[in-house]
Amino acid sequence: MTDHVLIERPEAFPGVQVIRLNRPEKKNAITREMYAKMTKALTVAGTDPAVRVTAFLGTEGCFSAGNDMADFLAFAVGGTVGTEVLDFLRALAGARKPVVSGVDGLAIGIGTTIHLHCDLTVASARSVFKTPFVDLALVPEAASSLIAPRIMGHQRAFALLAAGEPLEAADALQAGLIWKVVGQDAVEEETLSVAARLARKPPEALRIARDLIRGDRSDVLSRIDEEAQHFAAQLKSAEARAAFEAFMRR
Ligand code: COA
Repeated sequence: MTDHVLIERPEAFPGVQVIRLNRPEKKNAITREMYAKMTKALTVAGTDPAVRVTAFLGTEGCFSAGNDMADFLAFAVGGTVGTEVLDFLRALAGARKPVVSGVDGLAIGIGTTIHLHCDLTVASARSVFKTPFVDLALVPEAASSLIAPRIMGHQRAFALLAAGEPLEAADALQAGLIWKVVGQDAVEEETLSVAARLARKPPEALRIARDLIRGDRSDVLSRIDEEAQHFAAQLKSAEARAAFEAFMRR
């Protein structure tokens, strides 16, 4: 299994499982293998009573540059899409225990939409959230087309998801995408501290509270599938292939 995703259980933060994106040389772009490892960790979190909260973290200056472009291109030129991305999205959207995240710097594509499924996201002031789906001839994923307009209203969701406009940390806070903005050196400590505070709460009460706040997730899960159909079709389009090739040629 790859070290591009590290699964950690830091002793100083009991009950917290960390899923760390750890491929800084590629801006933490996420490959199929990385999705599979994250899915496994989420599955373990669901059944292991020692894990009360899962925390997503990246590396200094970068949460993630989104899906690996080489994987996109491989599919566009005839490869199989695999189930890794969808398995991950379903595991994330269906998680029964709290999920938090900490962002410092770049958060692109799924590096942004992942936080729509997190309960608390801490970000540094220099963080920028961006989803250039349409610029790549793709469409929104991870049920972002459903959740983002609910959270931030149509116009801000459209600017983010369709126009590909960047959202700086302060605006992401105002839009309700994230919970808190802190100094870049404090992101990990704040994220893990709040995760550990959640981990100390009565788990059953927390689970029920979370379920009530999140509401019925069947619409989220069916939107993930609906978006995925469009996404897969667009991945095969000539316009998407041209965009991926242009990126790889840079
Ligand atoms: N997939 C694969 N590799 C990626 C990547 C991605 N999504 N994003 C960055 N990388 C790689 C680059 O190819 C480069 O690799 P190399 O050093 O072997 O050439 C390395 O990461 C560093 O990226 P670079 O572009 O040189 O850094 P930058 O600071 O100039 O720009 C980004 C960073 C994230 C703005 C830019 O890389 C980018 O736009 N990436 C694509 C983001 C994207 O569209 N993701 C898909 C969303 S659906």
